[in-house]
Amino acid sequence: MLLLVVLPPLLLLRGCFCQASDVPEDVTAEFSVRLYHQLQISSGEENIIFSPLSVALALGMVELGARGSSLQEIRQAVGYSHFREDEEFSLLRNLSQALSTDEEQYVVRLANSLFLQSGVHFNEDFLQLMKKYFRAEVETVDFSQSTAVAERINSWVLNHTESKIQNLVSAEDFSSSTMIMLVNAVYFRGSWKNQFRPENTRTFSFTRDDGSEVQTLMMYQQGDFYYGEFSDGTTEAGGVYQVLEMLYEGEDMSMMIVLPRQEVPLASLEPIIKAPLLEEWANNVKRQKVEVYLPRFKVEQKIDLRESLQQLGIRSIFSKDADLSAMTAQMTDGQDLFIGKAVQKAYLEVTEEGAEGAAGSGMIALTRTLVLYPQVMADHPFFFIIRNRKTGSILFMGRVMNPELIDPFDNNFDM
Ligand SMILES: *[C@@H]1O[C@H](CO)[C@@H](O)[C@H](O)[C@H]1NC(C)=O
Ligand SMILES: *[C@@H]1O[C@H](CO)[C@@H](O)[C@H](O)[C@H]1NC(C)=O
Repeated sequence: MLLLVVLPPLLLLRGCFCQASDVPEDVTAEFSVRLYHQLQISSGEENIIFSPLSVALALGMVELGARGSSLQEIRQAVGYSHFREDEEFSLLRNLSQALSTDEEQYVVRLANSLFLQSGVHFNEDFLQLMKKYFRAEVETVDFSQSTAVAERINSWVLNHTESKIQNLVSAEDFSSSTMIMLVNAVYFRGSWKNQFRPENTRTFSFTRDDGSEVQTLMMYQQGDFYYGEFSDGTTEAGGVYQVLEMLYEGEDMSMMIVLPRQEVPLASLEPIIKAPLLEEWANNVKRQKVEVYLPRFKVEQKIDLRESLQQLGIRSIFSKDADLSAMTAQMTDGQDLFIGKAVQKAYLEVTEEGAEGAAGSGMIALTRTLVLYPQVMADHPFFFIIRNRKTGSILFMGRVMNPELIDPFDNNFDM
């Protein structure tokens, strides 16, 4: 996530992170879900993928330089209003530490960076606190050289996301009035604890919410997962829906898939998704044998968060009323600063192994005679989150409305 602070306008934002000894608890689930609902409004029938953690980190960086209502709006919207002053920074640092790992089992990398306009006097305290809480790398650039700056920032992002996030910004994003750009990157790679066998992957038809069918590659396995069936007690969400939690190696991270019944559009289930419900799912899924059919998928999205954040009450930082005076040495400079842009680009690829990799699409027809175990058949739109099971931090949240299509000529296997 990238936030760009400008005199006239710009800001970019992306990313988030966390680590733990006595485990910090993330408090941003409510904010994450509200943001999802905002994105849902602007996404029509499209897939969604974003990183709530990244947004929270980028906003934390802005908050460090904000005062007055600019500060209060962020605290309120993100869910820090019951905290003591500055306590959220300590929490964000603790979470970042708790989440960041570079283990063989899975990788979570969180990186923050601050690009500052050369010649402007930034407040030393602000820069120190950025390093203290966000371990931000600080670099001085000349935003009037917009092409060079865009290249520099894009290469930083590329470098911190294993080359998955490209071209986060372009030269047009900057002008001579751009003063500061805050960037954060989050990268996750995990292998399933129970991997899918590539030879069980085959073409399958996926029914979209509008009833149309497309061919996609469907992975299959029968294994031990956390599973539950839930109902919101009304018929609005289509009655009973399924929740499947699949662990990544190491068991700290998992992906939760939420699937309505076949004939129920995801759109009718989405409104019931609330933060306490995420908790309820996590606490009530039970370990058992499940038959899983899950599309191999790749989702990528660049979102402009400005509108959505404003809808959630974070308004003043984007306007002439912004008070980012704690960022600069001279009060008068700071009073002219505001956030011009808030952009996030996220990428997620789910395969047989977990993250990247593999899988020929050799097909083995499976006999589907007796169904002995609950069956989760994700052959229609579903909602997902990837979260840390200890801290509750949500690294990614989104939905698959349109799976990856396969070329029908590549694959003439027909079920
Ligand atoms: C962060 O961790 C430190 C050291 O463990 C602890 O003293 C502090 O209270 C934690 N902050 C929050 C907000 O949990
Ligand atoms: C990319 O990352 C490596 C290792 O972290 C670092 O040495 C190098 O300077 C980085 N390059 C850029 C463009 O940030």
